[in-house]
Amino acid sequence: MNGRASSVSNCEDTSKSVQTAESSASDPRATNLADIRNPPDPLSTWRSRARPTLTAVAVFSTFVNLMMLTMPVYLFQLSDRVLTSRSLDTLLMLTIVALGFIGALSLLDIVRRQVLGRLATSFETILGGPVLASIVTSAKVADSANMQSLRSLHHVKSFIASPVMLLLFDVPLAPIYFGAVFLIHPALGFISLVSGLVLIAIAIANQKATSGPLGTANLHTSKADAQAEALARNSQVINAMGMLNESILHWGNDQARGLIFHGGALDRSFWISGASKFARLFTQIVMLAAGAYLALHGRVTGGMMIAASIIAGRALQPFEIMIEGWRNLVQTRAAYARVCTAVDSLKQERAHLLLPKPTGRLSVERLLYFPPGTKEAVLNGVTFELEPGQSLAIVGPSGSGKSTLARVLVGCLYPTAGKVRLDGTELRNWDRRQFGEFTGYLPQEVELFPGTIKDNICRMRSDLPDAKTYQAAVFTEVHDIICQLPNGYETVMERSGAPLSGGQKQRIALARAFFADPALVVLDEPNSNLDSAGEQALTNTLLRAKEKGVTVIVITQRPAVLNVMDKLLVLRNGRWKHSARRQKFSSVWRALPTLASLRQAVRGIWLRTSHERWRVRPARKKQRNDPGLSRYSSMASRRAT
Ligand SMILES: Nc1ncnc2c1ncn2[C@@H]1O[C@H](COP(=O)(O)OP(=O)(O)OP(=O)(O)O)[C@@H](O)[C@H]1O
Ligand SMILES: [Mg+2]
Repeated sequence: MNGRASSVSNCEDTSKSVQTAESSASDPRATNLADIRNPPDPLSTWRSRARPTLTAVAVFSTFVNLMMLTMPVYLFQLSDRVLTSRSLDTLLMLTIVALGFIGALSLLDIVRRQVLGRLATSFETILGGPVLASIVTSAKVADSANMQSLRSLHHVKSFIASPVMLLLFDVPLAPIYFGAVFLIHPALGFISLVSGLVLIAIAIANQKATSGPLGTANLHTSKADAQAEALARNSQVINAMGMLNESILHWGNDQARGLIFHGGALDRSFWISGASKFARLFTQIVMLAAGAYLALHGRVTGGMMIAASIIAGRALQPFEIMIEGWRNLVQTRAAYARVCTAVDSLKQERAHLLLPKPTGRLSVERLLYFPPGTKEAVLNGVTFELEPGQSLAIVGPSGSGKSTLARVLVGCLYPTAGKVRLDGTELRNWDRRQFGEFTGYLPQEVELFPGTIKDNICRMRSDLPDAKTYQAAVFTEVHDIICQLPNGYETVMERSGAPLSGGQKQRIALARAFFADPALVVLDEPNSNLDSAGEQALTNTLLRAKEKGVTVIVITQRPAVLNVMDKLLVLRNGRWKHSARRQKFSSVWRALPTLASLRQAVRGIWLRTSHERWRVRPARKKQRNDPGLSRYSSMASRRAT
């Protein structure tokens, strides 16, 4: 239902943007952006929707609670009026009125539950998209996406439609019942009030006793959930290498800790809710006893005694249920805070001035990047400049910071210090969506979205013509590969990328990077899975990009594409070593494999000699001690010769 609701809203958004795009055929991109750039604040929209709805539920709840008095009043009337007067007419009238009230009560109760159910759906419809957007954009700061806020969203949504939510409206109306008991007799009112205070004290004790262990349990459970997500992502590796038991044990460590703390909190909470139940029943018996005592002294009637006991039970019931539902309430409050924080964090991503399409002039000034929570710089003082249409190859050993630099260049990560400017404007000052449209990025680990190949190449845009998808496919020479697939561009891909091979996925991702004429394209090891034909296609694409004036940055470990690049940057331990024209540094690059092979040859000789020494020595020792082994060795050597 949630999914359907959010998808409905997404469809509405999309259809709106398509309509606006149609209305301005001259520049669909700009119109579409105008639509998306200044959306209303989702939290204010949610609050403005929630406030009147909750007020209406409060009004309904007041009537429901007033009508709940029907039963005790009816009982009281029966015993004190009908039984004493023996009047059938009175009985009939009272019964009709009571049934009328009960019917109205049931209707109002249904309506308030329905209203809350719809509010729960609105909650997810209004905040689902922003929460998901904040998860995706938060990866810029945290280097990884955290799905917890989406789980919190589901939690709050279920809570809004749950009976505990209704109790939140019933508890404040408890004074109505206490007042009714006071009206019957002040002594009975006093007893019920004291009992109410005792239940409140129990609720506070419950909160104090369970909040600590519950918080710790949640922490461990979230870690275990994150691990479970990672396991699901790596299912192929786990199955292939028989790591299932170890993986589940690994996940089980955190899960078990979470369960231990959760179990401890549950134990305490069960004791406390047992105490609260005892307090409520105890109160009702005391009320009956006190009522009987007062009736014996003629201060109240028998009917009043029973009615007072029922009303007091009704007054205390929400408190008792609240004690049991307290855990849920605390968790929901924390979940709601997480949702608000996630949506608030999205505000920073809003409204920047729309700029004209950049020419592709890129300047990088003294970039410094520390991954969150570390003290070691992954990028340190990286500086270079590229003119429109120029291309740069970034090379360097593993772990030198190449992919991190690529992520900073396309705005996936914010640098700790230093600046990246596209056409003079710093990346942070570009409108995020507009910048994304003018940029292409092929990450080192290619993941395609579950959907058709067309959806993947066109970046899920439905407002741009199919011709652009075709152009990107032809530009990167993947059109023929796609045509060979049984369903062509409509081939649906699974989450794993099946039915495409690793190399095919990389080529589709290359087409996605060049979709809709970007001004800057960053390719992180685009040829790591390619065959020679794929590599040739990549080289042709880079040449075409140069002709079109696209600024291209290619991270590579292979020398094949270097021939078509203008500049070369060597990164080592996050530090920039060389940046100059390729011609000048082609000798450096040529020297790299030579030096590497020389080193490899020396290392190979050393390994072989040391291996021989290692193999020979123990064998000789053993031969001396073990005549059987020596016989076996001589047989083996004869057979070998
Ligand atoms: N979130 C992080 N926390 C800690 N260290 C990180 C983080 N992200 C990257 N690093 C470190 O930054 C260094 C550079 O990583 P990066 O992926 O950029 O290397 P690379 O040059 O692309 O390597 P490769 O050629 O193997 O792809 C690595 O040593 C890595 O450990
Ligand atoms: Mg890398």
